[in-house]
Amino acid sequence: MTTPAGEAFALFTELTSTEPTGLWSAPGRVNLIGEHTDYNDGFVLPFAIEHRTHVALGRRDDARIRVVSTFDPVPVEVEIADLAAIFPDDREAVPEWARYPLGVAWALLNATGATPPVGVDLAFASDVPVGAGLSSSAAIEGATATALNETWGLGLDRTALARIGRTAENLAVGAPTGIMDQMASMLGRADAATFLDCRSLETRSVDLGFAKAGLELLVIDTGVKHSHATGGYGERRASCELGAGIMGVTALRDLSVADLDRARELMDDVTFRRVRHVVTENQRVLDTIDVLAAEGPLAIGDLLVASHASMRDDFEISVPELDTAVEASLAAGAIGARMTGGGFGGAAIAVVRRTSKKTVTDAVTAAFDDAGFAAPHIFTVTPSEGARRDG
Ligand code: GLA
Repeated sequence: MTTPAGEAFALFTELTSTEPTGLWSAPGRVNLIGEHTDYNDGFVLPFAIEHRTHVALGRRDDARIRVVSTFDPVPVEVEIADLAAIFPDDREAVPEWARYPLGVAWALLNATGATPPVGVDLAFASDVPVGAGLSSSAAIEGATATALNETWGLGLDRTALARIGRTAENLAVGAPTGIMDQMASMLGRADAATFLDCRSLETRSVDLGFAKAGLELLVIDTGVKHSHATGGYGERRASCELGAGIMGVTALRDLSVADLDRARELMDDVTFRRVRHVVTENQRVLDTIDVLAAEGPLAIGDLLVASHASMRDDFEISVPELDTAVEASLAAGAIGARMTGGGFGGAAIAVVRRTSKKTVTDAVTAAFDDAGFAAPHIFTVTPSEGARRDG
């Protein structure tokens, strides 16, 4: 069977007729709860998944960087010194997918002021579904950042590499995202979720206890593609900043549920509902952690369902396919379900008893068929290790 690591290796040897000097990989992520809270300095509870982006890297004897991937077999090659002219303003000069790895190279050199000693070839392959809300972009950023950090001897730690990934995403790709995905991909641990305070960037491993409770986490990829470089994501972010400004706080993280009555008086209805989502979602993340510790994962369902309702009604980032996935899962006995990631498409998650996995899968598939939607792609994920060197 061809693995993505094997594909990256094969692509590299095809490109260069040599073997790579190393193989690295970084995972995608699922967010259990805490959506659109990261860029509001708030709380999130994601975990890295077993789907990963792999990169095979080899040194060159010039000062060029060349990237190739199974998404687009045409290699993209630039002088490393020219990256500063491409990003951020002339990013259209390189194909969209190549902005991720080249953007990471640019952000690394910018942040460290390092002169790279060596040019590199990088070949990528991935089994993280693209456009599914599972952070295929953070996976490619994390794999690139980890490989280049080591090859160029930059000595950055995992949190610094996550920041590099976000810089690439924001400035080289042009998507105004927060730092959750990159932190989850860099810091993921097998068997645990990562509680992240997006203001301090402090993290704590949180034992989900799913296996012991006989639970599994289903991903329901609706197949509805989204992009955060355009449209709704940036608008939501702007509304949050407006709301924080009206309330006179640095970020919505600084508000609590008790401040919402005052917020309602001070702002228009749409801005208020955006603010209410973020403020209540931050509280739901904290409540989820408390409930996990006190009662275990069987008791978190209501919080997941409330999170989905808030995204659907207040933040308005769900789509009919995501609502159908959530409703059909719950009706078929899921403990809890919600859309995950940035929204406007992508995937929902459902926490299900192992014994009802098939019932839920069949019910969601039937509900999509009844609604005239294309069949969803449904699979389980488990918390997995973050970025690493594989060979
Ligand atoms: C996307 C972004 C993250 C985060 C989520 C929503 O995945 O990349 O930074 O804002 O959306 O929680």
